[in-house]
Amino acid sequence: MQALILAGGKGTRLRPLTVYTPKPVVPICNRPFLLYQIDTLRRAGITHITLSLSYQPLKIEQQLGDGSDYGVKITYTVEPQPMGTAGAYKFAEELIREPTVVFNGDILTDLDLEAVIREHQGRKAAATVVLTPVDNPSSYGLVETESDGRIRRFLEKPKADEISVNTINAGTYVLEPHILDYVPAGEPYSFEYGLFPDLLKRGESFYAHIPQQSYWIDIGTPARYMQAHLDLLAGRVARTELPARRGEFDSATAAEIDELSMIADDCTIKPGAQIINSVLGQGCHIEEKARVENSVIWPHTRVGTGAQVFGAIIGRGCHVGRSAQVGAGAVLGDKSSLTDYTQTGGAL
Ligand code: GDD
Ligand code: MG
Repeated sequence: MQALILAGGKGTRLRPLTVYTPKPVVPICNRPFLLYQIDTLRRAGITHITLSLSYQPLKIEQQLGDGSDYGVKITYTVEPQPMGTAGAYKFAEELIREPTVVFNGDILTDLDLEAVIREHQGRKAAATVVLTPVDNPSSYGLVETESDGRIRRFLEKPKADEISVNTINAGTYVLEPHILDYVPAGEPYSFEYGLFPDLLKRGESFYAHIPQQSYWIDIGTPARYMQAHLDLLAGRVARTELPARRGEFDSATAAEIDELSMIADDCTIKPGAQIINSVLGQGCHIEEKARVENSVIWPHTRVGTGAQVFGAIIGRGCHVGRSAQVGAGAVLGDKSSLTDYTQTGGAL
């Protein structure tokens, strides 16, 4: 068994964070996101991983290298043009002519992957899709199943009146290599609109795996990117290795840092500053009496004296001026600079 991670999307819904940082390596609790997926694979004994890239591939390769730092072997495929999800699978064909786990490269989960593979093999399935329940399936792929776990219907991005169940495609598949032959070569093709409905028409043994209980989130919008952080900080994601909550940094004794917050190396936190339920990347400066709460701040950002940041995501190398207020839902791209006393919308 080996793995293919689909990581070629543009991450448009996560702009401005993805302008300089491709979505697969945006920091989640100060680690490039794909490392969480690599951990999941390695724990299930899968060490041959192909990363399927298209957008900003060099930035991803630079961060992850050949995988040896993480105990795996990473090979890269780079599509000249995005080929769609199944087109990317076909494009990697030469590398993955064996049973393969496919991940959408933007899912944070504590799924028991070994259990998925066992069930897939036990059923002798051609394809298995992991499902998860969500409140509103409209921005996902809705999946209806029979009582024995066979997939009855796959409906990508259903309209409100088409929503019949709350189970969706969780973006994890186990696929037998013969189904590569059903994917047209050299043209864009999609699992969700093309191959999966086609497997049903062909009567292939196409099954759902429904985990007993697992954490699941697609990190692809700012709100969900933020939620993933809050969930990790609160310990709601099992089987997940996080960096130490406290790196090596300078902090005044009169600063207040709560237990949940995660502070990377080389930060400076001045007297009277408060850091609550937040993540600070490497080398951030939080000036006197500034307050950062429920927020994610990327490396080398400075928050000025008396500024308040609440419920916000602030990119790399930003400057939040003195007494500025950055409210809930604000997302600042890298190198943003807010003049002293700026007020953005959103509740503080
Ligand atoms: N290599 C490559 N080439 N990767 C791609 C391409 C492509 O052309 N297009 C998308 N991807 C990657 C993205 O980088 C992402 O990791 C993954 O495929 C899914 O694409 P998204 O654009 O994030 O899709 P989505 O979130 O709207 O929907 C998908 O995920 C849902 C779960 O989050 C679908 O698979 C839904 O059915 C599913 O419910
Ligand atoms: Mg997505």
